[in-house]
Amino acid sequence: MKLVRVKKGDKIFEGYLLPRYETEDKNYVTIKLKNGYNVGFKIDEIEIEEIGDVKIEKKYLSEKLEQKESLPKIMIVGTGGTISSKIDYETGAVKPAFTTEEILRNNPELMNIARIDTEVLFNILSENMKPIHWKKIARRVAEILNSGYYGVIIAHGTDTMHFTSAALSFMLKNLYKPVVLVGSQRSSDRPSTDAFLNLYSATIVATSDIAEVVVVMHSSSNDDSCYIHRGTRVRKMHTSRRDAFKSINSLPIGIVENGKIKTFIPYRKRKEGEEVYVDDELNENVFLLKIFPGIDKEIVAKIVEKFDGIVIEGTGLGHAPEDLLDVFKWGIEQGKIICMTSQTLYGRVNMNVYSTGRKLLSIGVIPLEDMLPEVAYVKLMYVLGKTKDYNKVRELMLKNIAGEISERTIYI
Ligand code: DGL
Repeated sequence: MKLVRVKKGDKIFEGYLLPRYETEDKNYVTIKLKNGYNVGFKIDEIEIEEIGDVKIEKKYLSEKLEQKESLPKIMIVGTGGTISSKIDYETGAVKPAFTTEEILRNNPELMNIARIDTEVLFNILSENMKPIHWKKIARRVAEILNSGYYGVIIAHGTDTMHFTSAALSFMLKNLYKPVVLVGSQRSSDRPSTDAFLNLYSATIVATSDIAEVVVVMHSSSNDDSCYIHRGTRVRKMHTSRRDAFKSINSLPIGIVENGKIKTFIPYRKRKEGEEVYVDDELNENVFLLKIFPGIDKEIVAKIVEKFDGIVIEGTGLGHAPEDLLDVFKWGIEQGKIICMTSQTLYGRVNMNVYSTGRKLLSIGVIPLEDMLPEVAYVKLMYVLGKTKDYNKVRELMLKNIAGEISERTIYI
């Protein structure tokens, strides 16, 4: 690798000239500065001179990458987000970067764990995801697993990763191999990136015996271990920290540390000779309604009128203001399903303690135990895709289908 000096205007930069990938813009060069930061320069705006040579490991040079045939084969499916991106030095924005070559050159350690294939299913920011994207991912994951891959990694934007993990947990049936969602809070060409450790740990989980939909992300802000979160128990709890993802009302399934998995709670185990199938009939006419002081009754009435199902994110133990009672009562009489979760996230709804809770229960609001509101929202779509019958919906909403409800809540 070349050590170079770059002169741009009256500024001088010294660092290593990074190899350029096929997909990159030929008008730019990227220099890794000695402090670890990568900087991009437009070639015609700089003067560049070579000031030395640096020996680097052979695996980083642009010769063909050798993958080991004897290792288990896994597929990394790109769907977008920061993990699938790198900085575009022209605009300062992040842009997609997702070839097998790029992934492996940036993360050569992966080649010691698995034989990696990659594909891009779509490339969107996860705030733009819709239920149709969950279905596309579920269908593709089933195809990949049934075609013989040992596990699948889904590279995903972090903002709504926990919605997708819940949706896949309900839609992928007879799952007997790992499905690992992974993201990063900082793109892989930043020195503070979490992408490498997340992807490395995700690859270890994808080759493990954990046959569930899981999210694998940093366990703390140290760059040393990742938690394996159950897909129906996880939530993004911070805007920017690398350990933004937390298991709520449950311990994580386990941790990946020093290349090894340690598990904390029982999980579904890998089984050979099975076929995954997709159960993706969703009724998307569901609304997630957050309660707050001063909420407008007329708007709530319009929502109740329009939607087949409503998940209330109530206050405290599962409450909503008394003046909404007749709106909800009317909705339930019209055959709408109204469920209750709590905006405290931690803990279990208990609507028997206060009169508002008791009144909501008496009109038929379904209390969803310790289920997360977003998970309840996805689950209600899934359940209403099967039936609109109140008793059947109630039974299914209160049945633990994919680890989303527990008898005893664990606080951590
Ligand atoms: N808005 C984000 C998303 O796709 C990009 C950032 C990220 O991946 O964390 O969810």
